[in-house]
Amino acid sequence: MPRAFSELTFTPAVRAHQEKMGSAATYAKFIEAGPRQGHQIGPTEAAFIHARDGFYQATVSETGWPYVQYRGGPVGFLKVLGPQTIGYADLSGNQQYISRGNLDGNDRIALILMDYANKSRLKILGRMSFREGAEAAAELCPKGAETAPERAAIINVEALDWNCPRHITPRYTEAELRPHLNSLGQQLAVLQAENQRLQRELAELRAAGS
Ligand SMILES: Cc1cc2nc3c(=O)[nH]c(=O)nc-3n(C[C@H](O)[C@H](O)[C@H](O)COP(=O)(O)O)c2cc1C
Repeated sequence: MPRAFSELTFTPAVRAHQEKMGSAATYAKFIEAGPRQGHQIGPTEAAFIHARDGFYQATVSETGWPYVQYRGGPVGFLKVLGPQTIGYADLSGNQQYISRGNLDGNDRIALILMDYANKSRLKILGRMSFREGAEAAAELCPKGAETAPERAAIINVEALDWNCPRHITPRYTEAELRPHLNSLGQQLAVLQAENQRLQRELAELRAAGS
């Protein structure tokens, strides 16, 4: 776990539980002074972010409730804008504005980006700001978006953490399966044609023998 992530997540209460359960010594190295790392988006993280077609986004309400919403779009709709900045166009939707309202009182945000096919996930902690209006979001808006953008959502990344791949069940999108399905479809067509030919030949042999 990178230091930037443990600095934000290993609160006194968390560390008290680590002490009680005997894991504090193991994790101490993640919070010891040293060069801060894990707060900048490297090439691996950037490629991973640009390959996503969705992510889970958590905010905290003014009454203290955590709230998780799934955001989806075409691959690459979440964009890397700088070494510590990512953003997306916040499109007009059901107009409940739960995440938007939560972020007025607390700009902290947690994201989980999943790659089910390759069993990997990236956690991001950051602070969200907005540039309101369709014009401000024009550059971030995916081509052919179903609805108009209402604002640009900009996240200043404070920590990144690649999570343990264990317990991620591999799942595949239709786009990921398509090349394999096409190949299987072609093989099936060949086998069906061969099967029909062999049945015809067998019928002819039977007719000749009777
Ligand atoms: C017509 C329509 C289109 C939507 N398009 C998207 C979309 O492309 N991506 C997405 O994550 N949510 C989409 N949504 C869902 C919402 O935009 C939802 O309002 C948004 O995720 C904010 O949710 P929150 O108020 O729970 O924070 C759409 C909803 C509607 C009604």
